[in-house]
Amino acid sequence: MATSTYGWTERRTSAGAGAVAGRRAPLDVAAVRRDFPILDQTVDGKPLVYLDNAASSQKPRQVVEAIGAYYLRDHANVHRGVHELARRATEAYEYARERVARWLNAAGPHELVWTRGATEALNLVAFSVGRARVGHGDEIVVSEMEHHSNLVPWQLLAERRGAKLRHVGLTDDGRLDLDHLAALLGSRTRVVSLPHVSNALGTINPARDIAALVRERTGAVYVLDGAQGAPHLPVDVRALGCDFYAFSGHKMCGPTGVGGLWGRRALLEEMPPYQGGGEMIERVYANHSTWAEAPHKFEAGTPNIAGAVGLAAAVEYLDGVGLAAIHGHERALTRNAMVLLSGVEGLRILGPANAEERAGVVPFVIEGASAQDVATILDAEGIAVRAGHHCAQLVVDRYGVPATTRASFYLYNTVEEVRRLAEGVTAARRILLE
Ligand code: ALA
Repeated sequence: MATSTYGWTERRTSAGAGAVAGRRAPLDVAAVRRDFPILDQTVDGKPLVYLDNAASSQKPRQVVEAIGAYYLRDHANVHRGVHELARRATEAYEYARERVARWLNAAGPHELVWTRGATEALNLVAFSVGRARVGHGDEIVVSEMEHHSNLVPWQLLAERRGAKLRHVGLTDDGRLDLDHLAALLGSRTRVVSLPHVSNALGTINPARDIAALVRERTGAVYVLDGAQGAPHLPVDVRALGCDFYAFSGHKMCGPTGVGGLWGRRALLEEMPPYQGGGEMIERVYANHSTWAEAPHKFEAGTPNIAGAVGLAAAVEYLDGVGLAAIHGHERALTRNAMVLLSGVEGLRILGPANAEERAGVVPFVIEGASAQDVATILDAEGIAVRAGHHCAQLVVDRYGVPATTRASFYLYNTVEEVRRLAEGVTAARRILLE
């Protein structure tokens, strides 16, 4: 067992004792569930079935305990004091950066900027890369698959700089139209920013192939929105071939309010700061300032120290179980859900027909029934799902529906829960349409 500089022992969950990440047998769901006490409760007398993981995941006790231990023993502000608690807090915070950077296979901790989540990470890139590289008449390529956090920041940038947004279309079965993408890439393309995994469709995009295409045809910066990728797939940012990778802690067993932006060092160095304040400066004069080195240049103000500690604990937890095992488990649940839901009359599943091409996200519509009503009836059965446009308005527009009901799985979900989902959806259809 490895011991961190912070003095932590790399935790092994009860489900993954002695495991090497990505190389273990199918995960032991019963053991995993023991780490998530929140799952063990009833709603209106029925056992809770939590299938809203794409919105936010639950937290294992190891993460909650790491945050508690930090606050109960080590808290002070970071990088500022010479006293013992300041030293410990700084060590915890920077160890967390090192741990999460290693998890992403970054070249080093200096490539990881802490943010409030993927949304802030994408706003940071849009603002700073935009200032450094995007001018009048330049083009920014996004897609019709975007979560609003990978669309609106680019819209704001395009408006500020007089640049143009180009949108990659989607195929009828919920994949990026790669021929269209190739046709959009050209000498004016400065940024290509796409989701690793779609939150609204579940599609796993061929991020490496796209990197090759972007490199071949443009000198553009290639950004991946990894909010739904990092929690569910083994992520190696260098192998993916992107320049930036944005992610959120709360979707991957970590706390809310913390996430990160991985970026290539040369780009982080070239980019101007995003926000001004304490910590991000080297020297301040009356009318101008000079900047600290990346990543600190992008981290103005007192950071979410406990959040970083919790996120590192989440990464240790996920590593203990193994991302490949988690992905395999989710794929099996997804296959199961797709088969069972397809049996419900009038039900259409959006996204790739092949479960192998999706992460554990299954959005669906029932002809003639409102997606919200279906979710409300499921809630009465103790089943938590999300209904709406899932902050991806272009997706529902593309498929001509006002909203979908979305079930999304994680490492602690079971086949029995998928069966209850299908039963609940069948009952909802009957109540709403018969
Ligand atoms: N982005 C989150 C979702 O897909 C909130 O539900």
